Amino acid sequence: MTVSAKHIMDHLGDALVSVDLSFLGEKQSGKVRDLYRHGDKLILVATDRLSAFDYILGLVPFKGQVLTQLSAFWFDATRDLIGNHLLQVPDPNVTVARACTPLPVEVVVRGYITGVTSTALWRQYSLGERRIYGIDFPDGLRKNDRLPEPVITPTTKARDGGHDERITSAEIVTSGLVPAHQWQRVCEAAVAIFKRGQRIARRGGLILVDTKYEFGLNAKGEVVLIDEIHTPDSSRYWIADTYEARHAAGEEPENFDKELIRLYYAARGYRGEGAPWPLPADLAVEASARYMRTYEMLTQNPFIPGETPAGPRIEQAMRKWVKTADV
Ligand SMILES: Nc1ncnc2c1ncn2[C@@H]1O[C@H](COP(=O)(O)OP(=O)(O)OP(=O)(O)O)[C@@H](O)[C@H]1O
Ligand SMILES: [Mg+2]
Repeated sequence: MTVSAKHIMDHLGDALVSVDLSFLGEKQSGKVRDLYRHGDKLILVATDRLSAFDYILGLVPFKGQVLTQLSAFWFDATRDLIGNHLLQVPDPNVTVARACTPLPVEVVVRGYITGVTSTALWRQYSLGERRIYGIDFPDGLRKNDRLPEPVITPTTKARDGGHDERITSAEIVTSGLVPAHQWQRVCEAAVAIFKRGQRIARRGGLILVDTKYEFGLNAKGEVVLIDEIHTPDSSRYWIADTYEARHAAGEEPENFDKELIRLYYAARGYRGEGAPWPLPADLAVEASARYMRTYEMLTQNPFIPGETPAGPRIEQAMRKWVKTADV
C-alpha cells in the first residue's frame, strides 16, 4: 500500500472533524457528512468522523477522502445502469451533487444471509422466520450462505434518534411511500448495480456482501441514485480468497469493512448500552489503513492522500468553486 501506518499515525491530529464553509450557506450535519444547499446543488463534505452503534466514536484520517473518491468511482462505474446525483468533485473530500428529493426508504440489497442486528436476515431466519421482508426463504440455509439471487430488504428512514424499521416492497407501495412505477425502477436499478458491484469487487479480491442505497427524484421527477455508493460505511465486504474454506469449516468470513470496529468494542465488553468510549489511536490507524486499502482493491488504483490539514484546503477549493458555480 502507498500509505504507511507511520504516515497515518503522523496525521492523526490532522483528521477532519468538520470545516466551516458558511459562505456556501447554512451548514447541516449528518453523522458523517456536512451538507450545504447551494441553489439546485447539494454540497457534501465528507469528514473523517467514524460512526458506529449510532454514535460518533472518533476520527479516522483520510476516511472522508476515501468515501468521496470511492463513491465517485462507483457512480462512474454504474451510470449506464441508473443516473446519479454526482456533478463534480472539486476537492478530494467534497462532492457537488444535484439536490434531489430523497425517497423515504433505505434500499438494502443483500447477496448473503448474515448479520446479527434486528433488521439482519440471519437474525430473523435463525429465529425461525421463513418469510422475511415479504420474501420466502427455504429451510436449511446456513449463516453466511450466498443467496441464489440478491434480495431487497428495505427499511424506513429513521427520524432523529429512531431506528430503521423493516418494511416490505408491497407495504412501500400500498402505504403510498413510493409510487409503484418508481419503486419498480428502484428495485431493477438496485439489483443491477449490486451485481455490477459484486463483479468489480471480486476482481479486487473482495466480496460485496450487502449494501444500502438511497434514491431520490431529480427535477424532472426521474429516479436517481443519491448519497454514497458501495463505501465501507454503507456496505459489508468480505475477503474473497478465504471465504469458501472458512465457510465450509463453519468459521466466520474475514470481514473487510467497519466490522473491525464493532468486534474491537465487543471484545472489550461494550454491549451496545450507552455511549461507547472514544476510538483508541491504534484502532483509528488500523481503520484508516483498511479504508485506504479497500479503495485500492476496488478501484485498482493507488490511494493518493490529499494535502493535510484538509480543512484549509477544502475552504480554498470551495471559495474557488463558488466563483465559477452557476446557481
Ligand atoms: N443528492 C441528494 N439530495 C438530497 N439529499 C441527499 C442527497 N445525497 C445525500 N443526501 C442526504 O444527505 C445526508 C448525508 O449525510 P450523512 O450520511 O452524514 O448523514 P446520515 O444519513 O444522517 O447518517 P448515517 O449515514 O450515518 O445514517 C443523508 O440524509 C442523505 O439522505
Ligand atoms: Mg448516510
